[in-house]
Amino acid sequence: MAEQSREGAPVVVLGVCGGIAAYKAVELCRLLSDAGCYVAPVLTEAATRFIAPLTFSALAAEPAQLSLYGEQHPSPHTRLGQMADLVVIAPATQNFLARLASGQVDDLLTATVAATRAQLIVAPAMHTEMWEQASTQAAIALLKSRGVLVVDPEAGRLAGGDTGFGRLAEPAVIATAALSQLHLRNGGTRDLEGCSVLITAGGTREAIDPVRYLSNRSSGKQGYALADAAVARGATVTLITAARLALSPLTRAATTVIEVESAAEMAEAVYSAAPSADVVVMAAAIADYRPVAIATKKMTKDLGVPALQLEETEDVLAGVVARRRAGQVIVGFAAETHDVLNRGNAKLKRKGCDLLVVNDVAQPEVGFDHETNAVTILGSDGLTTTVDLSSKAIVAHSVFDRVTRLQSTSVRERTLSD
Ligand code: CTP
Repeated sequence: MAEQSREGAPVVVLGVCGGIAAYKAVELCRLLSDAGCYVAPVLTEAATRFIAPLTFSALAAEPAQLSLYGEQHPSPHTRLGQMADLVVIAPATQNFLARLASGQVDDLLTATVAATRAQLIVAPAMHTEMWEQASTQAAIALLKSRGVLVVDPEAGRLAGGDTGFGRLAEPAVIATAALSQLHLRNGGTRDLEGCSVLITAGGTREAIDPVRYLSNRSSGKQGYALADAAVARGATVTLITAARLALSPLTRAATTVIEVESAAEMAEAVYSAAPSADVVVMAAAIADYRPVAIATKKMTKDLGVPALQLEETEDVLAGVVARRRAGQVIVGFAAETHDVLNRGNAKLKRKGCDLLVVNDVAQPEVGFDHETNAVTILGSDGLTTTVDLSSKAIVAHSVFDRVTRLQSTSVRERTLSD
């Protein structure tokens, strides 16, 4: 069982019905757990014929529950429904949809649904003929009219070698729907829906010789947190990264990743992607200097201490601002160690970006390679937002709060001048 407390984590009851697609619910369970949810699995009796409860128990926050009468709890029929922030049923069989639509309560999963006020998501999976049955479509229509969210099945291979419509949606698609609901429930919105966001991340490496390079302490974690936040808010993301971190599966599904190493490669990739971006967030720590020449062979000690001659790299942020298209929002970052706000305000003007996210990396737990950050977001609109020491996810959302505010202001101004 995954080590997880309920403290602050959204509770997702994952209902699994008896169909061959039950094995895919294991991946869904893992995705939701990895995304920080407290997952409580409930398997119907039929589901246990396809997949072992222990498989879910090993991945979820609590053991899989199977029966109304198996739990040492005074009220097993209401416990899970009442604690749930979201109930996701995947796969939902034809039989289960019919029982749900008719309001039957005759096992733990139907009782959990009956006892919840949480949003319900169903992801049906069945053969094409069963999906097309008038009774199934009527059940789906009824459930939708009651506010149930349906993640439609896809076309593809079905059990028994058939192909057609009815295959369970990919676990990442169902998990994205679930996380979006939780995000909305927390007061968040899909305010970047349809928006294309370009994010840079990590510290570039400037080669000295085939084995050495100049770099900086940037880990890329803030840039990756920005990608997670943008995807959660509905954006499609291009991440140009000099770091080699793993994206969460959900973010990866909505993200084009371009790996670069040097400032020159970063510049080329950014200039090619920026024209189609609505928002450019330059979180990468791009090297300011690089060796004038890269030695083709390793510099060995017998050659003496090398005298490294450096030259300035191109200022990519300045290049993006110079090429800016109408309505594009451009965000810069600045890691400072002294005179932070004065330097930040001067840099905001000098760089010509809309927002500059400044942090004082001399402070403990701030920025470079930490899980946390504390920033001041300076804006060309004159607004300043201070984010005290928080997770990089919270900092990322604060940045996008300011971005969307700028976007709505510019739409309002355009409307007024029309
Ligand atoms: N940046 C850039 N190209 C560079 C260096 C930095 O695009 N060659 C971007 C960074 O991605 C960041 C912003 O510029 O968004 C500020 O970086 P910083 O290194 O603080 O700016 P500098 O102009 O190099 O200022 P300083 O003199 O403080 O180093």
